[in-house]
Amino acid sequence: MDVNKFIEEKIKEIKEVVGDNIAINALSGGVDSSVVAILAHKALGDRVINIFLNDGLMRENEPETIQSSFAKIGIKVEVKDVSDRFFNALRGEEDGEKKRKIFRDTFYKVLGEAVRESGAKCLLQGTIKPDVEETKAGVKTQHNILSQIGIDPEKEYGFKTVEPLIDLVKWEVREVGKALGMPQTRFNTMPFLGPGLTGRVIGEVTRERVAIVRQANAIVEEELMPLKPFQCLAVLFKDKATMKGDENAKGRNYGNIIAVRCIESKDARTAEVTEVPYETLKKIMKRITTEIPSVTKVVYDITPKPPSTIEYI
Ligand code: XMP
Repeated sequence: MDVNKFIEEKIKEIKEVVGDNIAINALSGGVDSSVVAILAHKALGDRVINIFLNDGLMRENEPETIQSSFAKIGIKVEVKDVSDRFFNALRGEEDGEKKRKIFRDTFYKVLGEAVRESGAKCLLQGTIKPDVEETKAGVKTQHNILSQIGIDPEKEYGFKTVEPLIDLVKWEVREVGKALGMPQTRFNTMPFLGPGLTGRVIGEVTRERVAIVRQANAIVEEELMPLKPFQCLAVLFKDKATMKGDENAKGRNYGNIIAVRCIESKDARTAEVTEVPYETLKKIMKRITTEIPSVTKVVYDITPKPPSTIEYI
């Protein structure tokens, strides 16, 4: 891929599709929508509004980090707290695929409202090739695939969508980001789910359960990022396990189970498990069980992709 030619073409395409109108870009915190933000800024200047919908399902400090890293390159990001909408919509749902669908519907409803309020006629999106492939293959529903699954966003939500990265895989997106001078903090961002921590909670998504998995993800990232993996993460299981030995406890107590995952990959289509030093794994276990007392078991997932996927839902 000729990165500079790609950038030139996409800037032209964005200019053509948006015309004299205003466009809106929903930043998710990941590399993809960050690259789109910079491309759109180059194409449209102040005629692109970057909005960060805080759905309450983000990793620790994510909204603040995004705002400050984009401020450094002169791009303004509006943060809107919409977390109640998501937790209300997700209440009671345990099925992974249904949670993804609920997330997607809520996301578009909330975003649709934001687009209408802003007067934008066009929505920019950071959809990439694996999102499309996996949605088409029925492996999972990525939240940002609309036309591929037969939804006309203009009819349904009242706006056109532009997806400049749709032909690229992850490492190509990173190359484009590098060439665009993306801030280092954004550029190093690990892949993260569109539906956020919804995907890291097996079973019902509640504020309490998301808080547990958020804290576990922060610990895992802190301890494993020095190994520079492609991705590392923590997942909260739905089941509980017997609480650590407490001789005084009456009857049996149950605590949460956290799975730790750390993988190496080039494009997320296949992945190998990182051989994390045992001492590091023990440290992660120790930190999670002491800093999050409701967690009583920590397991390390050693399954590559295939046969597994990287995430759990
Ligand atoms: P899986 O779990 O399918 O994930 O092996 C492959 C890669 O894609 C990321 N992923 C997502 N990224 N929206 C995204 O932007 C999503 O809904 C989504 N689901 C999975 C995942 O973290 C991994 O890097």
